[in-house]
Amino acid sequence: MELYTPEALIGEEEIALRIEALGKAITQDFENEDLVVICVLKGAFMFCSDLIKKINRPLKLEFISLSSYGDSTNSSGNVRLEMDITANIEGKNVIIVEDIVDTGLTIKTLMELLSVRNPKTVKLASLLFKPVKLKHKVNIDYLGFEIEDKFVIGYGLDYAGRYRELPYIGILNAGN
Ligand code: XMP
Ligand code: MG
Repeated sequence: MELYTPEALIGEEEIALRIEALGKAITQDFENEDLVVICVLKGAFMFCSDLIKKINRPLKLEFISLSSYGDSTNSSGNVRLEMDITANIEGKNVIIVEDIVDTGLTIKTLMELLSVRNPKTVKLASLLFKPVKLKHKVNIDYLGFEIEDKFVIGYGLDYAGRYRELPYIGILNAGN
């Protein structure tokens, strides 16, 4: 069996503590309101799964799949809708749950796509934010961690489809 241990950047406990705080903030911000949580596949699946357990509000969970990267570590500059949500979000409070905001193109595209469906509010929760390469104006309402410009993997994030299962966020090294 192949063994590998990518270098850790953010550990399991740190992630869990941060998510608890984000869940509390969302719970407080949406008192007496229903929510539609949209998990952006595939990268946000683990973050979203842990986050919704910390949101103490009635919610519906939806999934959307967008792709901008292919198998490379550089953005291809266009975003494709691979799978849409099934719920009607008109008049609803929407929280988009994303793994990482890098150039901001994915989120900008998604916000535009959803806003024409007339939701009541749209907020963004992102586990990670890499401010260095930001090209589009993006407002992250619930942010996990700001990180430097390194390609990260684990806790849902992949490189060429691998490493999503790691319970922590690691840095992709040539040796991996
Ligand atoms: P943009 O540039 O559209 O990028 O904000 C967002 C999407 O790019 C992917 N991405 C990464 N995926 N490690 C990853 O595994 C990274 O360091 C990384 N940086 C960007 C990610 O899919 C995200 O949705
Ligand atoms: Mg990805």
